[in-house]
Amino acid sequence: TELLSDIQPGRLVVTKNEHPTPPPPSSTLVFGHTFTDHMLTIPWDTTNGWGEPHIKPYGPLQLEPSSSVLHYAQTLFEGMKAYHTVDGRLLMFRPDMNMKRMNRSAERIALPNFNGEGLLELIKQLVRIDRHWVPKEPGHSLYIRPTLIANQRAIGVTPPNEALLFVILSPVGPYFPKPVTLYATTEFIRAAPGGTGSFKLGVNYAPAVMPQKMVAEKGYSQNLWLHGPEHYLTEVGTMNMFVVFKLEDGTIEVVTPPLDGMILPGVTRDSVLQLLRDHVSGSQTLKGLPQKLKITERPVTMKEVQDASRAGNLVELFGAGTAAVISPVHQIGYQGEDIPIPTGDGGMGDVARTIREQLVGIQWGQIAHPWSVSV
Ligand code: COI
Repeated sequence: TELLSDIQPGRLVVTKNEHPTPPPPSSTLVFGHTFTDHMLTIPWDTTNGWGEPHIKPYGPLQLEPSSSVLHYAQTLFEGMKAYHTVDGRLLMFRPDMNMKRMNRSAERIALPNFNGEGLLELIKQLVRIDRHWVPKEPGHSLYIRPTLIANQRAIGVTPPNEALLFVILSPVGPYFPKPVTLYATTEFIRAAPGGTGSFKLGVNYAPAVMPQKMVAEKGYSQNLWLHGPEHYLTEVGTMNMFVVFKLEDGTIEVVTPPLDGMILPGVTRDSVLQLLRDHVSGSQTLKGLPQKLKITERPVTMKEVQDASRAGNLVELFGAGTAAVISPVHQIGYQGEDIPIPTGDGGMGDVARTIREQLVGIQWGQIAHPWSVSV
């Protein structure tokens, strides 16, 4: 297999869309419903490895009904964004992290690995071709969705002899335009030890749709997935969780559940932790936060959240993700009770607001940072 070819940006073929559509006004966008004029496809097979990358008009894929992805959910994806700076540059945020995670996901379901730098170069070319689709309005960006599917034309459950990688682009606004309320479900689970919860696979998302519909009917935005009889918080499926407590000595503790194999290792999660740790170490101070903060990756139970809320020591709680950015949570339904979460002025607590401003400042190129990468 060493002779199989890897992804090679130099082999790119571009077919321009002859019927481009004008991008709609950003204010009318519904998250993930609008796509740009072009997409990238790269085929793979066991004989040749990665084939010719092709940027072509956005449109339907041709798959046979026997295609394995349609039966056994052999599909994985990534979520990244491109940002338009006020001075006209295009930036991406830590895209190397997404390329690594995509390869990790591929390995988990026996799909082919690839050279992440090669794919990233092709994604940049795609974004450049559709650059007028990157929204300029604050809070808006171009969502990039790389996807890799198995395309074995056979009924057996095996590693595929063919696969297809494609990348589509969608101009987006906020994923959660309204305040987030969660329902801590004790009925369904998202992940289990040894399962696939820490990989970005389609198979983690389909089983969440029906429970999501159920909580929406109860008036909540999302399920908060718990683990074990202790009811440990895990994640929301569209974002990782951060809980802020006030400790007995007055110290503020920012807690996020540890990467124990059941939680998606979010790029935003990692960035929030690093920004907070840089603040505490004094290497990059965040205005508006006390210097003395305790930052911990540790298991946290719903009982701890409930007790802290009753004692007045629950400071805030927010989600972090590429689509969600930083989304404060206002309320969690748990065992028949609605736990109120303080949110402060403007609907965001100090930690969520400060982190969000720093993150968005870096993403939009207002704050220089090595995480920003030019497209
Ligand atoms: C993202 O944040 O990019 C995600 O992939 C979450 C998603 C299911 C919208």
